[in-house]
Amino acid sequence: MHNTTSDTRMKQEAQTLHRHHPRRFRTRFATAASIAKPTAYLILLLLCYTLGYLSAVPASSRNSTSPTTLKNPTNLLISTPTSITRPPPPLAPEDHHNFFGSVCAAQPVPPQLVRQTIIDRVFNGTSPWDNFPPPHISRLLHPTKLRGWGSTAPVFDHLIRKVQPKTIIEVGTFLGASALHMARLTRLAGLHEGTQIICVDDFRGWPGFQQEDRHRRWFKDFTMLNGDVTLLYQFMQNVVSANATHLVSFLPFSTGSALEKLCEWGIFGDLIEVDAGHDFHSAWSDINRAYKILSPGGGGVLFGHDYMTAADNRGVRRAVNLFARLHNLRVQVDGQHWVLLHPSKQQQPRLTRH
Ligand SMILES: *[C@@H]1O[C@H](CO)[C@@H](O)[C@H](O)[C@H]1NC(C)=O
Ligand SMILES: *[C@@H]1O[C@H](CO)[C@@H](O)[C@H](O)[C@H]1NC(C)=O
Ligand SMILES: *[C@@H]1O[C@H](CO)[C@@H](O)[C@H](O)[C@H]1NC(C)=O
Repeated sequence: MHNTTSDTRMKQEAQTLHRHHPRRFRTRFATAASIAKPTAYLILLLLCYTLGYLSAVPASSRNSTSPTTLKNPTNLLISTPTSITRPPPPLAPEDHHNFFGSVCAAQPVPPQLVRQTIIDRVFNGTSPWDNFPPPHISRLLHPTKLRGWGSTAPVFDHLIRKVQPKTIIEVGTFLGASALHMARLTRLAGLHEGTQIICVDDFRGWPGFQQEDRHRRWFKDFTMLNGDVTLLYQFMQNVVSANATHLVSFLPFSTGSALEKLCEWGIFGDLIEVDAGHDFHSAWSDINRAYKILSPGGGGVLFGHDYMTAADNRGVRRAVNLFARLHNLRVQVDGQHWVLLHPSKQQQPRLTRH
């Protein structure tokens, strides 16, 4: 949503290119033809023959865009010349599943082992909370500094009481405001500290945030340390101050790489919140990857922030609607949040609708 102007400009430039090139070619051919018609025709004929011969695709590879080979992305790239004249058939939902992989094959890690699995796999066996904060960092931190977007919306309470999750995965954590709100709610819901909240974020904000007037206040309290905005450490300090380190794990990496690893390791979420990049490609990728790691037993719920504004229509909302259509899911709206439910779950208690 921050790139609208440059996107529009690029689109205009692209259209300009498309519009001008053919005209230039036509003009040149017209001039050549009027000067020496027979010669020009001969050259044109030879040129067409040579180009046609060079670009001819062997019969054996002509079918490379057929649905059976769509699963292999390499084929799709190689076959570009043929798809100019005959575009590949539109992707059916099955193709989409096959293409991107819709299931995580790993044996699910039992909920009580999820935290230790992350400590072993991500932190080489040493809890990141041990000896935190180190002296050179502690002087940069506030005891608590929480900010967020819709972090205490009613949807969290609705879903935690409904799903009674043992594992919650949050994609997009920032300073941990909503993660700590969820930690409080699991205590209130009487889940007896048996819930682990896994936070996925690269903890760096986004490039250029200091230059954005409307976002500057979010970062004004942070020190940049050799290019690192120290968001990770302030998030950790917030969790420490809330006495919630035993409830919270984190993967400080890009959402794409972290979610793929959770899938590979067999770490699934009963409740997954997607609230990271809001442009279409980020939202689409996060939703697809998050859906794969919804707990395989059924009853898991995928939800996320920002379904309501006009800007979301180009990004998050478009991705959510497209995903729901492909997977035959129903989108419920709860405040500013979207919730994806299986059609079979429609009989369960309704969430607030607006
Ligand atoms: C290409 O596909 C058509 C129709 O599916 C089939 O009849 C033909 O044998 C295929 N050709 C090759 C070279 O695979
Ligand atoms: C990871 O843990 C192993 C075993 O405790 C240790 O030998 C190794 O040095 C550790 N690696 C890093 C990068 O800390
Ligand atoms: C965290 O625990 C300490 C010591 O038990 C307590 O003084 C403090 O009020 C607790 N903070 C919160 C936010 O629960």
